Amino acid sequence: MKIELKHVTKKFPNIDRKIHEFVVAVSDMTVEIPDGSLVSILGPSGCGKSTALNLISGLEAPTEGWIFFDGEDVTDLSPEKRGIGMVFQSYALYPHLTVMKNIMFPLENLKGDKKLTKAEMKKKVEEVARIVQIDELLYRKPKQMSGGQQQRVAIARALVKKPRVLLLDEPLSNLDARLRIQTREEIRRIQKETGITTVFVTHDQEEAMSISDIIIVMKQGVVYQTGKPQDVYDSPANLFVAKFLGTPPINVLGGEVKDGSLYVGHDKVLPVRLKDNAERRVFVGIRPEGLILAGDDDQYVLHGKVKSIQVMGRDNTIVANHHAMSEGADLRAIVSASDARSVGDSGNVNFKLDPAKVFLFDREDETRVEFEPAEEEHVEE
Ligand SMILES: Nc1ncnc2c1ncn2[C@@H]1O[C@H](COP(=O)(O)OP(=O)(O)O)[C@@H](O)[C@H]1O
Ligand SMILES: [Mg+2]
Repeated sequence: MKIELKHVTKKFPNIDRKIHEFVVAVSDMTVEIPDGSLVSILGPSGCGKSTALNLISGLEAPTEGWIFFDGEDVTDLSPEKRGIGMVFQSYALYPHLTVMKNIMFPLENLKGDKKLTKAEMKKKVEEVARIVQIDELLYRKPKQMSGGQQQRVAIARALVKKPRVLLLDEPLSNLDARLRIQTREEIRRIQKETGITTVFVTHDQEEAMSISDIIIVMKQGVVYQTGKPQDVYDSPANLFVAKFLGTPPINVLGGEVKDGSLYVGHDKVLPVRLKDNAERRVFVGIRPEGLILAGDDDQYVLHGKVKSIQVMGRDNTIVANHHAMSEGADLRAIVSASDARSVGDSGNVNFKLDPAKVFLFDREDETRVEFEPAEEEHVEE
């Protein structure tokens, strides 16, 4: 089912009653969630992810704006009538009930012609239990299961009424790292198998990137960018999105475009031309994989001082200083283990930049400044 939010705003009264200003949890949000897709809402804690999800479920009513399910205005529809299944970070299973009873719970209160017999309910539970692969565990109690298994029970319970939409609010936060990866792949499999339109809330960019068709990146109630994970990574609309996606995070330095080149401090690092041929000061974002060890005759290089080399198996991270690095942070380059070995003992390291991995941002509003790689200067013979 297609979900649309149109100019949705949610304001809460301030918890501190003395402050009369409202908290704007979601601000003028307009997004489209395609039928059958898995869409992640991604952003730091407090940016309005849960509020956005609660607006979709109907647990919260928008202050302004509209919500549509398959073109039908559901803005004023109660949660029960929207046909949603929800899963939260805390599994909220009933400890004294078996897995079977836990999953069956939402079916027991169906009324009128929707009322089911015990046998019908059991059949439905077994069906979803198979999908989430806990059909062997139906007669256990929650505490006899691992966290990952309990979360599957919660997902099965959300799916048993065949909802039109599955809403997941940080469902993996309570699991340890290995189980988190396993369970997120599991969620993706279940979503694909059932074809159910799913909205997945997380603050973990890797999690969002790895399982989503589309990510919605939010900050302070505002949608900063929407797109396919790879597209957003490859073409961030602003500095916030560039910094939020990717590990290690993007390197951000102060720089300047002048005389047909990008300068970082005194280093001439890339031949570039801005659309309007302007000269201006910018923030330079360089992905760690966009810093390539330079050869001796490379003209455009960024000079660094090696602080350490972190061995990570296949790839290594070179951590270096650069005087133009923002916020006193380190420069991080990801290079192959063999390239890392070629870094000499002098402590100096020169990088050339992969222009596809370099982004420029306005110093004031931090939006992206487009550039074209210019022709390299050739010294006349
Ligand atoms: N019921 C509420 N009353 C007052 N403020 C709220 C309420 N729910 C959320 N907020 C505020 O709205 C903002 C967004 O919260 P939330 O949607 O929970 O963020 P997230 O899920 O991204 O961490 C926060 O500043 C939070 O304090
Ligand atoms: Mg939340």
